[in-house]
Amino acid sequence: MAIETVGIIGAGQMGGGIAQVAAIAGYKVVIYDIAADRIEKGIATVSGNMARMVASGKLTEDARQEALARISGATEMSGLAGADLVIEAATEDESVKRKIYAQLCPQLNPQAILATNTSSISITRLAAATDRPERFMGVHFMNPVPVMKLVELVRGIATDDATFEAAKAFAAKLDKTITVSEDFPAFIVNRILLPMINEAIYTLYEGVGTVDAIDTAMKLGANHPMGPLQLADFIGLDTCLSIMQVLHDGLSDSKYRPCPLLVKYVEAGWLGRKTGRGFYDYRGEHPVPTR
Ligand code: CAA
Repeated sequence: MAIETVGIIGAGQMGGGIAQVAAIAGYKVVIYDIAADRIEKGIATVSGNMARMVASGKLTEDARQEALARISGATEMSGLAGADLVIEAATEDESVKRKIYAQLCPQLNPQAILATNTSSISITRLAAATDRPERFMGVHFMNPVPVMKLVELVRGIATDDATFEAAKAFAAKLDKTITVSEDFPAFIVNRILLPMINEAIYTLYEGVGTVDAIDTAMKLGANHPMGPLQLADFIGLDTCLSIMQVLHDGLSDSKYRPCPLLVKYVEAGWLGRKTGRGFYDYRGEHPVPTR
């Protein structure tokens, strides 16, 4: 089945980014979220990001206007009835995702493919909560979606070949490079990246170094574009914690134990950039370490 219209669940950081790259690639895009103001905010961010692309010569103003005109919003799941592919990019919480699938599946075209942008949860288990496990799979984008070249593709036990091929073709049309991961906790990128971030938080917790020392060490000593604590704030500390919990529960190995300091920050509601505070305080002109 040819994919023409892409539905996206969630107008946040990831949903907005996926909407942006899909619309630029020529797909019609419908963004679903529970509140109209969230959709407006998401589309405004996409519009601003596309304006930056125009300013740096990566997109023409005409192409920006055309891409924006291909994006619409829906606050009812029925707005996704015409989608050929729906990508769920909701919060990294299994119960939230299950509730969404229960409401969404009856609205969808029976042939439509349902994909999840989950960064860690079992595709096979999520597929079993839908009416179409054979047309369900993981399509995991990295943040910021318009900049990062990779899409991780993850098949569940029941995913059929046609669905996998359609996802590969979709990623290629977005000009992304794919890697294929087996369906194990956190797949490839986060299985490796999150324990590194968690270890950086232990390094801070145990007083080995300050926030500044740890980030500078990894930026200049390992050539990472961002330090691990800066990256944790960028991903969102709630997402970091939930990925560590998935690794810890799913692999039953104490080496994945979330650092108590990460738990404390999440309990404080200091979730990183999106809440204005995490390992850095973003409320002033420049980020300032919070420890
Ligand atoms: N959205 C869209 N475009 C963005 C952007 C965003 N949020 N942030 C930056 N960009 C664009 C800029 O417009 C700029 O484009 P031009 O070259 O056309 O001007 C380009 O990216 C570079 O940006 P900057 O010069 O402002 O900043 P930078 O050079 O410091 O790069 C960065 C910013 C690309 C984010 C870089 O710091 C980086 O690669 N950081 C690491 C990101 C990373 O590791 N992501 C993966 C997170 S893990 C994940 O996503 C998986 C998960 O499930 C948790």
